[in-house]
Amino acid sequence: MTKEEKKSLAGHMNSLFISEEKEKGTRDAIAWALSTYGREAALSSSLSFEDQLITALMVETDKDASRIFTLDTGRQFPETYELIDRTEVTFGIRIEVFFPDYRKIQHMIKENGINLFYDSVEKRHLCCNIRKIEPLKRALEGTEVWITGIRRSQSVTRKDMQMVEYDEADDVIKLNPLLLWEEDEVKAYVKKKGIPYNRLHDKGFPSIGCQPCTRAVKPGEDVRAGRWWWEDPLHRECGLHARD
Ligand code: ADX
Ligand code: SF4
Repeated sequence: MTKEEKKSLAGHMNSLFISEEKEKGTRDAIAWALSTYGREAALSSSLSFEDQLITALMVETDKDASRIFTLDTGRQFPETYELIDRTEVTFGIRIEVFFPDYRKIQHMIKENGINLFYDSVEKRHLCCNIRKIEPLKRALEGTEVWITGIRRSQSVTRKDMQMVEYDEADDVIKLNPLLLWEEDEVKAYVKKKGIPYNRLHDKGFPSIGCQPCTRAVKPGEDVRAGRWWWEDPLHRECGLHARD
């Protein structure tokens, strides 16, 4: 398919799935991706509430067609590794784990120190590039539809995203099946259905990324206030979803 055809398909499917009935739109979108693309559709999972909900719906829709991968940056919380294991056991699946290139990591740390991300936005992006973006590119090779757990209300940087959109940077159709859900709705669904979730969520961590770049938030604070908390909110993206 050409870029123009992918763009037009994304626009068409988006209009079908964006609906007042959120759960139906989400289920229809996942069913479309798995029945049309099989394992050429893949969920990138950070093991968040959102990704766990999508994992459960994918497995329920078609377990054999469910391809789920995670990017192990090497700086994650022990609770996240424990959850990868618990999720695999619960659903009887294997989550593919992608790692960064150790040579690039060694070079970066030799030049900049182990905790370079606190020094500047540039160094933080360098770390995210090496630990997440480059492995993401490898994980997306041969992928037609990239499924994510993004929601519009997560951040000012996500308010214009669509449920199905063409992602120019990666030349894939990007599917955000929970785009319109609110945090409370996602949490309530996960808990009601007994879907496994990260134990850190019950300790004040609403949004979980790498350990050195994530901290707990106070009640009433924005859900992403604990991510890269030392930076301006407009820059608080790792670049997975906000590349030119
Ligand atoms: S981030 O850009 O700030 O790191 P966030 O944590 O909100 O992203 O997650 C949004 C979506 O990005 C997740 O639902 C998931 O699809 C993808 N994602 C983020 N981190 C990872 C990861 N480590 N591995 C795989 N996918 C990820
Ligand atoms: Fe590096 Fe922090 Fe980005 Fe993780 S979130 S890749 S530790 S800068």
